[in-house]
Order: sequence, then C-alpha cells, then structure tokens
Amino acid sequence: MKTLVLYGSPRRAGDTAFLLNMLLESLDGEYMTVDCYHENISPCIDCRACRRSDNCAINDGMQKVYEYAEKCDDLVIATPLYFSQPTGRLLDVCSRAQVYFSQRRFRGIAPNLSIRKGGVILTGGSGDTTGAQKAFDTLKDVFLMFGVKNIAPPVCCLGTDKTSAAENISVISEIQLLAEFLNA
Ligand SMILES: Cc1cc2nc3c(=O)[nH]c(=O)nc-3n(C[C@H](O)[C@H](O)[C@H](O)COP(=O)(O)O)c2cc1C
Repeated sequence: MKTLVLYGSPRRAGDTAFLLNMLLESLDGEYMTVDCYHENISPCIDCRACRRSDNCAINDGMQKVYEYAEKCDDLVIATPLYFSQPTGRLLDVCSRAQVYFSQRRFRGIAPNLSIRKGGVILTGGSGDTTGAQKAFDTLKDVFLMFGVKNIAPPVCCLGTDKTSAAENISVISEIQLLAEFLNA
C-alpha cells in the first residue's frame, strides 16, 4: 500500500505533525509526505497549458507528487485550520491538481489515478467545530480533483490553544480508526 500525504503546517513538530506521525506509525506499506511549506512547489497560475497537454507546465517539486499520486492507493491530508480553512500553502499545492480537472473537463480523458481512500487530520486552536466543517468541505473538493470519493470522517483535534495534540488523549482512538480505515 502506498499513501500520499499532504502536510500543511509550517511547524515541523507542532500539533498536526504529532497526530500525523501517530497515524503513519500505524499505516501499512510506504508513504511519501509533501511538506507544503518547505517543498519547492508553486501554486497553479492558471496558464491553461494543461487544457492542451497531459503535463503541468511548471517544472518544480510537484512533478514527483504527480508521479506518486498516479501510483498510490490512499491520500491523507493533515493541516491546521487557518481562518477556518486548510492553510494557504496546502491549498497552493492542491491547486496543482488542476491538471486532473483539465483532463476531465477540457480533454475528455480520465486521469491516470486510482486512489481508493482519503483521510483527513485537522487541528485548530479554538474549540469551534464550524471551522473544521468548513475546512473539511473544502478538502472534499480537493479529494474530488484527485478522484477520491471514499473519505473517512475527519480526525479533528480542536482546542489546541488549551490542550496540545500530545495531551489530547481522546484523539488517539480516532487516529487508530483512521489507520484501520486506510489499511483495510
Ligand atoms: C494565521 C493563523 C490562523 C489561524 N486560524 C485558526 C482558525 O480559524 N481556527 C482555529 O481553531 N485555529 C486557528 N489557528 C490556530 C491553529 O490552527 C492551531 O494553533 C493549530 O493547532 C496549529 O497546528 P500546528 O502546530 O500543526 O501548526 C490559526 C493559527 C494561525 C497562525
């Protein structure tokens, strides 16, 4: 089993990383993590080259992400909430999945993707669940770009301003359930 992980926090050892590492320890097979803040990956600039060509015209770190996306089984997205949404850099990277949208919409071909399942980890400083719901709704659109329809309920670790992910005992069982869903 191969899992593509899109990691959306600028903090390398924060709340999201803690939970993601816990998940990765329980996942079967191999994975590739894209650290959206630290990889050299530009946002989509809507140059529209992908309306005529299979490949994205921007030659950067995203090329290896496309390669892995086209052979992986699962897609996991882990991000803090910023303004009740996934972080900007995470969405920058996700915007490059426009190549797959263009293949379907403008070129009438099915992208070379066979990702079976999706998983989401969200962290937030406040305890407000409406922000997490908004972010999850946005991420559902991202999963659709990658052709993923079978998405587990999101693991939401909220209230990190008061209780860090490492101190949040109840979230551990949710991470285990997500691992079981992805491994099955
Ligand atoms: C610019 C910015 C915007 C944020 N917006 C929200 C928000 O809308 N809702 C929320 O619950 N937390 C918000 N937070 C808090 C983070 O989501 C929270 O601290 C999270 O646990 C950080 O995860 P990390 O340690 O993995 O980066 C925001 C933090 C920053 C820096």
